[in-house]
Amino acid sequence: MRLENKVAIVTGAASGIGAATAQLFAVEGARVLAVDLDETGLHNNHGETANIDCLAMDICDADAPDIIIGEAVDRFGQLDILMNNAGIGSNALGEDMALEVWQKTLDVNLTASFRLCQAAIPHLKNAPAGRIINVASVMAQHTDYGLTAYCASKAGVTGYTRTLALELGKYGITANCILPGAIHTGMTAASFAHDEIADTWAKKSPLRRLGQPIDIARGALFLASDDSGFVTGHDLNVDGGMLLRT
Ligand SMILES: NC(=O)c1ccc[n+]([C@@H]2O[C@H](COP(=O)([O-])OP(=O)(O)OC[C@H]3O[C@@H](n4cnc5c(N)ncnc54)[C@H](O)[C@@H]3O)[C@@H](O)[C@H]2O)c1
Repeated sequence: MRLENKVAIVTGAASGIGAATAQLFAVEGARVLAVDLDETGLHNNHGETANIDCLAMDICDADAPDIIIGEAVDRFGQLDILMNNAGIGSNALGEDMALEVWQKTLDVNLTASFRLCQAAIPHLKNAPAGRIINVASVMAQHTDYGLTAYCASKAGVTGYTRTLALELGKYGITANCILPGAIHTGMTAASFAHDEIADTWAKKSPLRRLGQPIDIARGALFLASDDSGFVTGHDLNVDGGMLLRT
């Protein structure tokens, strides 16, 4: 039980990586507040799990940070781990990218997660070993066609996380990112339903497969637990080695 007596918030917990991480954290002894826009998905995934409470919420709402952090502390009495995982994709050539799409991508992937960190920090300072885990992407470091907004948002996440790691270390708080590769989740399901696309992405990894949500959840567990006590400001690629070659 690597998270015994810990309280965690996981956003984007109704699907994919967030759902798997909330479940794994609970199995490892944490009490978890699972947050997502999708109330049905939250209850389908976690309704039967004793250690998981669900909160349906848009993380971009003006009062979302105070409500989400407040709910965790009210329900469980403390906060040890914030995992900012909720995210959206967007796809348009830079030349054609509508400003609303650019703005929405940055609002969800970057600004909302930063605001959640801000609201969490006073409580993480009271924790014996506070943890911020931000889900970025290999696209924080690399790119593909159509990903100007997505890449900008994820590079922004790694940038602000490094800075928080520097600022919060003296309080015993670590702040790290996970950079998933190609993972089979709700976000990618439509693309990977095409065998040709799934095969292409699987072959980018030396391990010759797509990642599964549990692959990322295990990385998150490492960053949430005492095992990573001396790891901060780190970008943990969990991509099956996808970035090893050009
Ligand atoms: N799947 C991949 O290949 C991949 C690769 C790199 C990074 N990521 C990142 O992993 C994270 C999780 O994505 P996933 O792949 O599990 O996708 P997913 O679509 O399965 O899950 C994302 C969840 O976030 C929720 N969400 C979106 N906007 C929200 C909002 N405003 N408020 C609350 N919840 C919101 C969605 O409802 C959904 O349940 C994302 O940040 C994504 O960018 C995924």
